[in-house]
Amino acid sequence: MAEVASFEKLNGSKADLSHIYNQRDPRAYFRELRKLGYAIPGRAKPLFEALISQLRRDRQDPIHILDLGCSYGVNAALLKHDLSMSDLYEHWGSERLADAEPDEVLEQDRRFFDGLGDSEIEVIGLDNAENAVAFAEEAGILDAGIAANLEIEPLPAAACEELASVDLVTSTGCVGYVTEKSFGTLLPVVTEGRSPWMANVVLRLFPFEPIERELAGWGYVTEKLEGRTFVQRRFATAEEREGVLRQLRERGIDPAGKEEEGHLHAEFYLSRPVEEAGRSPLRNLLAGREFSAAT
Ligand SMILES: C[S@@+](CC[C@H](N)C(=O)[O-])C[C@H]1O[C@@H](n2cnc3c(N)ncnc32)[C@H](O)[C@@H]1O
Repeated sequence: MAEVASFEKLNGSKADLSHIYNQRDPRAYFRELRKLGYAIPGRAKPLFEALISQLRRDRQDPIHILDLGCSYGVNAALLKHDLSMSDLYEHWGSERLADAEPDEVLEQDRRFFDGLGDSEIEVIGLDNAENAVAFAEEAGILDAGIAANLEIEPLPAAACEELASVDLVTSTGCVGYVTEKSFGTLLPVVTEGRSPWMANVVLRLFPFEPIERELAGWGYVTEKLEGRTFVQRRFATAEEREGVLRQLRERGIDPAGKEEEGHLHAEFYLSRPVEEAGRSPLRNLLAGREFSAAT
């Protein structure tokens, strides 16, 4: 109970962007986040790609991903196609769509994503923003969507079967809204078959320990990528900056050279079943890959 309250308190120091999370199409989401330089899905892409390559070697194709807090299918669009965050900002910020009705945006996106062709991975998205999930599913960005809030409700029964074959669970910008409660609801379902890896990119503002403990109860070991942080976005206001810096200091995290410079920073956590974690440490999985790091 204390930990949930603490997630709520920490969330309170962040700017409230919920008004852009559940609109009928992605234009407002990308317009507002572009202003803040929201970059974390692009920063996470090479990390997730490294894991997908390894999973491809270990498991049968196609690799099935569950993206938590998927929004309009942002990580799905980046991982399934040769697209960057700049491409998505251009695409949904274009003049061409400025006066379109949401249904026209959907129609154009159906054609756009269809034209990009098939991918070797399949992505199921879960988010409590039902309009965002529906858009991503109908536009063909997600292979399937689940609109649910696992903080307060069970998984829809219809979702359980497809979740049993998930190989990798991903999240960016989501932990904090989503806590160990959601993981506690997902774990019995996603571990029905071969247990998936869990790759979470988490703001330094939020403790990962409650989720790590929940995962440990299901035989998972969590590794943090040490010595690297990833810029999530600029602070929205001076008030947000002050609030976040205060919370970090209260938790004993030094914001010097990082958040103090004006951006929220995230870290990368990989949780895997103990025997798989033992075979290949995280640093080996990422060896030789290029990541844009702190700034
Ligand atoms: C900052 S956005 C990140 C979206 C996307 N992953 C990205 O990086 O662009 C946070 C997302 O978490 C979702 N969210 C908030 N509370 C949630 C909950 N209880 N369960 C699932 N998703 C939630 C929001 O609707 C929103 O789509």
